[in-house]
Amino acid sequence: MRQLFVAGNWKMHGDKASIKTLVTGLNAKADSVGDVLVAVCPPAVYLDYTKNCLMVDNIALGGQNMAVEPMQGAYTGETSAAMLKDVGCQYVILGHSERRAIYGETDQEIAAKVKTALTSGLTPILCVGETLEERESGQLESVISQQLDAAVAEVGIDQFSNVVIAYEPVWAIGTGKTASAQQAQDVHAFIRGQLAKLNPSVAEKVIIQYGGSVKPNNASELFSQPDIDGGLIGGASLNADDFIAICQAAG
Ligand code: G3H
Repeated sequence: MRQLFVAGNWKMHGDKASIKTLVTGLNAKADSVGDVLVAVCPPAVYLDYTKNCLMVDNIALGGQNMAVEPMQGAYTGETSAAMLKDVGCQYVILGHSERRAIYGETDQEIAAKVKTALTSGLTPILCVGETLEERESGQLESVISQQLDAAVAEVGIDQFSNVVIAYEPVWAIGTGKTASAQQAQDVHAFIRGQLAKLNPSVAEKVIIQYGGSVKPNNASELFSQPDIDGGLIGGASLNADDFIAICQAAG
């Protein structure tokens, strides 16, 4: 049985005051989420502050992106895996569709970052997903395969049991349009099936989160699908009650 995992991607939101309020709310209800793995991913500049606000040991910390260079160096504006670890991160989101679309990150660059994360002892949350145009033109499976294959080729299938995959249809992110539970399940099963062709036992272990307009009122149905192992939550992770309700739905 795979453990369910819910992560909050705060994106570029928050300030010290709002983070204090949010984390105080999470601290108060953290014991109600049971066995579900939970993480929050604040903006890099607030990682340390968030870690200091967290008073519970069952909410982990993650970065939203990371440099491919693992340690230190002349890379202005970048944050390394070593730095994320130093401030207490266990996870790092990589290849989010916003990084791909706005900052031009390629499958190969993302795959290299997945390798850096793994060799540095961070668990990568590798995001994959198709645009509406790609889905409607029948390219869903080829797009997802390409995104997945680049990372598998870089790190090897055996390492994939240490990778979390987040399937996020781009058309469902921040739009209020959630993929139906069946649409999401179909893609999750496809992803697991692709991995199973290479290593069935790894495929069975890999946590595959769903992301895209997950809210308290649709989380249970999504998370009850056999291949959906939790969620990567954007907007709803900025409200403590909503985020905790989503975590509870995974329990
Ligand atoms: O990383 C999170 C996703 O982009 C989902 O965002 O829940 O606001 O749609 P959303």
